Amino acid sequence: LDNGLLRTPPMGFNNWNATHCDASFNESMVKGVADAFVSLGLKDVGYEYVNIDDCWAEPSRNANGDLVPNRTRFPNGIKAVADYVHSKGLKFGIYTSAGTKTCNGGGGFPGALNHEKQDAKLFASWGVDYLKYDNCNNQGVDAQQRYKAMRDALAASGRKIAYSICEWGQTDPKVWTWGEPVGNLWRTTGDISDTWSSMIGKVHINDDLARYAGPGHWNDPDMLEVGNGGMTATEYRTHFSLWAMMAAPLLIGSDIRNASATTTSILKNTDLIAVDQDTLGKQATIVSSSGGKVVYARQLANGDRAVALLNENSSSATVSTTASAIGLGGSSSYRLKDLWSKATTTTTGAISASVPAHGTVVFRVSRG
Ligand code: GLA
Repeated sequence: LDNGLLRTPPMGFNNWNATHCDASFNESMVKGVADAFVSLGLKDVGYEYVNIDDCWAEPSRNANGDLVPNRTRFPNGIKAVADYVHSKGLKFGIYTSAGTKTCNGGGGFPGALNHEKQDAKLFASWGVDYLKYDNCNNQGVDAQQRYKAMRDALAASGRKIAYSICEWGQTDPKVWTWGEPVGNLWRTTGDISDTWSSMIGKVHINDDLARYAGPGHWNDPDMLEVGNGGMTATEYRTHFSLWAMMAAPLLIGSDIRNASATTTSILKNTDLIAVDQDTLGKQATIVSSSGGKVVYARQLANGDRAVALLNENSSSATVSTTASAIGLGGSSSYRLKDLWSKATTTTTGAISASVPAHGTVVFRVSRG
């Protein structure tokens, strides 16, 4: 969407993967996450949006037809939380559905279908900077019609609000074929869960969608699970590596107030963040794939290539490609930087690594 926002993929936090609708999702958590962005240095490396998901509202609108923040979770309202997040130099995001109800919470909370203008104005008055707009309870109304109605309502709200379409690639025509003029990003997949098979499945749904992504309009394979405990550190490094290769949103989905050193070291890999946030905005494509050994490459703004060597097998394997196969031919020598180990090497063209089970080695490759 050409609204000047998200020229690189969004970076931030969303509570859903960590809390779903648990009671722990409340004002003190959201403020604590904003504090952790600053204290853990996540803000310094680019994480910006602190977003809240479903179950923030009361089950009914008020007498004016306005949404009401849940009185137990957010006793001081949403604006107070947004103000706090802004006071830390961060941005604040919210959630609702392009339907009559949202997706969760005993039948759902009120959605924005036919309330688009009123809800967008209310969000703007609270200082909302980002809206995730879900697809539940849509009453069979055409998806493009529903998502364009909220795009237009946000544009008329008086505030710059990034717009995340959460339609999951559910209906035909597929959201990626019509998303560019409608939203800043669109979910291409169903919900991620904290397992290797779920995570890697999301990657492969995105494999053929690179041509639809670019500055201001991104494919969204869902939020990060890094730190939630269901995958090994190697698998979480693969998760983060491949999200960076895919120019995917880097929305942290674990409770970073309690982040381990391993979790923060993954989330703060500035070399991979630079790949994700590269200004050319080119999502990686597959160079080769066989026997669970997959090579992805993407072109970067300075002419370098990022190459990921993924091993989906349950034992280690050597994964190989060449500089010319990833689009960097014509030189007698190349520099490789391993973006996890930070080791640098030179090569005349061969690019190869021994990759652990479920691991990914990522190199930044330069000519000369
Ligand atoms: C849907 C979305 C999730 C989350 C939940 C909340 O399932 O895809 O990301 O927002 O709704 O109910």
